[in-house]
Amino acid sequence: MMNDKKILYSGMQATGNLTLGNYLGALKNWVSLNEEYECFWGVMDLHSLTVRQVPAEFRKRARNLLVLYIAAGLDPKKNCIYFQSHVSAHAELSWLLSCFTYMGELNRMTQFKDKAAKHADNINAGLFTYPVLMAADILLYQADYVPIGKDQKQHLEITRDIAERFNSIYGDVFKIPEPYFGKSGAKIMSLQDPSKKMSKSDENVNGSIYLMDDPDTIVRKCKRAVTDSDSEVRYSEDKPGVSNLLEIYSACTGKSIAESEKEFAGVGYGDFKMGVAEAVISVLKPLQDEYERLLKEKEYIDSLIKENDEKASYFANKTLRKVKKKLGLTEMPR
Ligand code: TYM
Repeated sequence: MMNDKKILYSGMQATGNLTLGNYLGALKNWVSLNEEYECFWGVMDLHSLTVRQVPAEFRKRARNLLVLYIAAGLDPKKNCIYFQSHVSAHAELSWLLSCFTYMGELNRMTQFKDKAAKHADNINAGLFTYPVLMAADILLYQADYVPIGKDQKQHLEITRDIAERFNSIYGDVFKIPEPYFGKSGAKIMSLQDPSKKMSKSDENVNGSIYLMDDPDTIVRKCKRAVTDSDSEVRYSEDKPGVSNLLEIYSACTGKSIAESEKEFAGVGYGDFKMGVAEAVISVLKPLQDEYERLLKEKEYIDSLIKENDEKASYFANKTLRKVKKKLGLTEMPR
């Protein structure tokens, strides 16, 4: 390693419109981690192919996601931000690890079950082996920590199981990664059904706030958010709608849940929802402005992509070479 900082690895799929859940549960917490850790952030475009994509739109969306990472504040000189598909070691290690992963394990993945139900007409093998590719992503970089939202916890567990299984046969090849959850926002729920996570693929667009929503849309969606027949702004299991709004408010303002409850004590739901909307707008508006500005900087972005792809490839291939050697694959003569 080039220094003795611990390594962080994470990324997002380039599928659909990113939501406030992706931002508060992931991206927002990633900024500034590079001070303490060596950070790798992938644009997970290979994972996106488990559902059908329209090529021209997909190409644009993946690139825009990379720009969004930078707009959100990840300094591309200090963070390695790159496309998963540009580093072929991901697909290679994924194959090798699939020979160390059991069908039974993959069958237990709740995300697979959910997605298979949602895309009944396209239950492809990639959807099933999705977690193996995710394990390859993480293990290639010898990550110590993986910042994720709670919905990805099971995928990290299988990553650890695969790594431990491999290590028990071949020695210490992989670092065993730990999940890293942000202080707040680790599970943002749908505004229309607080028992479900806020998701890019939700059919009800009012359930999700998208990162590119304009202020009027954000106000409208917050006003329509499902609450309860009570009128007290309090965090409680039996008040999932209000609790979710408090969680959003707290993640956007940096105030604790207790402080937020105090601020809205005795305030009606209408004003509370406006307060939440304003807090959301105050984080999304600067992000949107910076994103629009960066989209025009084509050459700058191109040069960053090139630089960071090379850096990612260097680290990933180091691990891949080691794995191949341990497995007994013949080396290419020099
Ligand atoms: P993805 O693209 O679905 O989501 C990206 C990140 O956002 C988090 N997230 C949420 N957090 C809080 N509340 C929500 N409602 C919410 N929705 C999403 C996710 O937990 C995630 O951290 N399989 C991954 C992508 C991936 C990956 C990796 C992540 C591929 N390889 C390697 C880490 C390491 C996924 O689909 O995330």
